[in-house]
Amino acid sequence: MKLNIRALAAQVVFQVLENGASLSNVLPQHQAQLANGKDRALLAELSYGVMRVLPQLDNCVSQRLQKPFKNKQRLLHHLLLIGCYQLYFTRIPAHAAISETAEACRQLGHEGLVKVINGVLRNIQRDETPLDTSNDTLKYCFPGWLVKKLKAAYPDSWEQVIEQSQQRPPMWLRNNQRQQSRAAFLAQLAAAEIEASAGLTADAILLEAPTDVTALPRFADGSVSVQDQAAQWAATLLNAQDGELILDACAAPGGKSCHILESANIRLVALDNDAKRLERVSENCQRLQLEATILCADAANIDASWHGDKFDRILLDAPCSATGVIRRHPDIKWLRKAADIDALQQLQAQILDHCWQWLKPGGTMLYATCSILPDENSQQIEAFLARTPDAALETITASKENHATGWQILPGQDNMDGFYYAKLVKAIA
Ligand SMILES: C[S@@+](CC[C@H](N)C(=O)[O-])C[C@H]1O[C@@H](n2cnc3c(N)ncnc32)[C@H](O)[C@@H]1O
Repeated sequence: MKLNIRALAAQVVFQVLENGASLSNVLPQHQAQLANGKDRALLAELSYGVMRVLPQLDNCVSQRLQKPFKNKQRLLHHLLLIGCYQLYFTRIPAHAAISETAEACRQLGHEGLVKVINGVLRNIQRDETPLDTSNDTLKYCFPGWLVKKLKAAYPDSWEQVIEQSQQRPPMWLRNNQRQQSRAAFLAQLAAAEIEASAGLTADAILLEAPTDVTALPRFADGSVSVQDQAAQWAATLLNAQDGELILDACAAPGGKSCHILESANIRLVALDNDAKRLERVSENCQRLQLEATILCADAANIDASWHGDKFDRILLDAPCSATGVIRRHPDIKWLRKAADIDALQQLQAQILDHCWQWLKPGGTMLYATCSILPDENSQQIEAFLARTPDAALETITASKENHATGWQILPGQDNMDGFYYAKLVKAIA
């Protein structure tokens, strides 16, 4: 049977919250079951929306259930979250939201519980009370452990960091400078009546409103890619020069590799330990007409797979908590656990130490994360500098602030995702 949008949304949310799948993997598989673009957009809105304000919805729904849904009925809890989200956060008329959600219950094989779903949602609709925000988790819709870490890291601005992480992200494009100048592409966007403006980095373009990529001029030809400006700083800061041999040590899906290849005539090794994700690097290179050596290997044991020269420059875009990109991936708040941070910190240190061996004397390594936690960023780099006598930190002059311990971009700053960069230079002898 074909499932309606609410039933599909309940399945998406279930897979993320109960099975630990990532929203960006699960959502497209479910969207593929809908023929209409508007329906696909509503499915995304409901799934992302629930992730953004989960504690408030969970609390509202749980209070109204005499006993929680368990085992095979657990999916209905997630269906109620979808119902509650529609009532509080969308302009969908309440009668339509309730009847479609009740119909989803039937479609999901729980005919006998349609009355319960109906009853709970009618009760919420009748109450018209504001959602409970009486503790930090309910107020900020952030996990407690992360609020604690952010308070410690940003005593004066943690609330703003959270508020920015709860926003819907803007859409940034990267002009492919091998195809046309940014000014020429901006003119093409204007001709297509897509409002846009130039960003701070050489190739960045900010769209006034997010647009389907298929509506962008010459997207399929590789004229342009979708990439946040914060991520575009990587190629600028790495500053690859013609003829150099470059390593992108954690390359998949290849956004930064491709940008570096667009910016200079270099040889680039795109390395990652995830074969599936590496396929995306090949696809991106193909669309953009770029060439890279693609290597499936462990960045903490490159010796086992690479027998070529050492590298002039290395980009190490390390696996991290992704706490800087919560506005794009709100499921991170619920998938990531406090204990993950220590494990990630150790992995990053191992990869840093090993990749350093593969950097030529005089070479540059750019360490990057999309994290906003000092454990993975400034503290990681301070510890690396302390144990690595031939490493020095080069100041990043990209913004007005002084970046003594690397450059921490906070979410929303100049409309960017949260990111961290540290530029490390290896002594000549
Ligand atoms: C932040 S993502 C990289 C994003 C990529 N640089 C881009 O711009 O498209 C981190 C990557 O590190 C990879 N990774 C994790 N552990 C690794 C390891 N030990 N060796 C190599 N790659 C690893 C993951 O598979 C993931 O693709």
